[in-house]
Amino acid sequence: MSLRIPQISFDDSDQLAALCKAGGDSLRLNVLRALASDSFGVLELAQIFATGQSGISHHLKVLTQAGLLATRREGNAIFYRRALPQLDSLGGKLHAALLEEVDQLTLPADVHARIGAVHAQRSAASEDFFAKMAGSFQARQDMIAGLPQYRDSVVALLDALNLSADCTALEVGPGDGSFLPELAHRFARVVAVDNSPAMLELARSRCERDTLDNVELKLADALQDECPSADCVVLNMVLHHLAAPGEALKQLARLVNVSGSLLITELCSHNQSWAREACGDLWLGFEQDDLARWADAAGLTPGESLYIGLKNGFQIQARYFSRPAPDSRLTHR
Ligand SMILES: C[S@@+](CC[C@H](N)C(=O)[O-])C[C@H]1O[C@@H](n2cnc3c(N)ncnc32)[C@H](O)[C@@H]1O
Repeated sequence: MSLRIPQISFDDSDQLAALCKAGGDSLRLNVLRALASDSFGVLELAQIFATGQSGISHHLKVLTQAGLLATRREGNAIFYRRALPQLDSLGGKLHAALLEEVDQLTLPADVHARIGAVHAQRSAASEDFFAKMAGSFQARQDMIAGLPQYRDSVVALLDALNLSADCTALEVGPGDGSFLPELAHRFARVVAVDNSPAMLELARSRCERDTLDNVELKLADALQDECPSADCVVLNMVLHHLAAPGEALKQLARLVNVSGSLLITELCSHNQSWAREACGDLWLGFEQDDLARWADAAGLTPGESLYIGLKNGFQIQARYFSRPAPDSRLTHR
């Protein structure tokens, strides 16, 4: 007589065990910390943690299989970011608690320095692009999405703001300055900050041509140099050129006055990797949720969003976020 061994399924506990195991390694915890508001490719993470590519790939696989990381293809590279905890699923609360604890960790100074080096490599590529390509800027913008395609949507968001006569605006990355007339006509004072001398020269010509007397142009890196705060901060097609967009959003949100607004126009996530070469894009657009999550982490509240589908397959998101008065956010959450 053959003995039947009962088949016991441990699916759920296997899943929890994978989560616990993934968290049970200090390098993996530091990877999660480094990905708090950033995403990195395998080679970047190998550089950041000074470890071999196969070693880091193993850890990334463990974290991904446990549901702690999610991947996204950016051209030929796979980028890793944190997965969001699913609070009503098995392990969701443990996942959220783990991230909360991880965020208390301080990354070692050398890891921190190498993250800075990775960001600097990304930024240098972007600056180099605008230095060389200012002459063909408009044609390159038009290959994906030019201002005529999203101007009306951003203007509609601006006009819904009920601005008072003394309100100020800050445009980060005005490029050739095509949006500055819209801002100059609506705000008492506008400051436009661009870190590319060549692009700023184009913006200067535009301001002179249109006699925009209330616009001040500033050659500065919006993330490194001091910028004035404003009632409305505008970023049109800039975020995908920034080395660490999540961190950048946090920094730029600090420039928004209380009860003020942040308007962001961006590409939705896409897989047209030629945009990197042709238009100097560091990121292939963003998920709608990414922007909302970063804005939330920056203390902003989401408002209206407009989405614009283009004939060439790209989609644009025009997003509005506001900075609430200090204690109103607590009561709204
Ligand atoms: C794709 S262009 C967008 C121009 C314009 N806003 C538009 O919608 O046509 C991006 C602009 O952001 C600028 N930029 C990139 N990184 C920057 C930074 N860290 N600080 C200031 N400007 C930056 C670039 O020099 C460039 O002019």
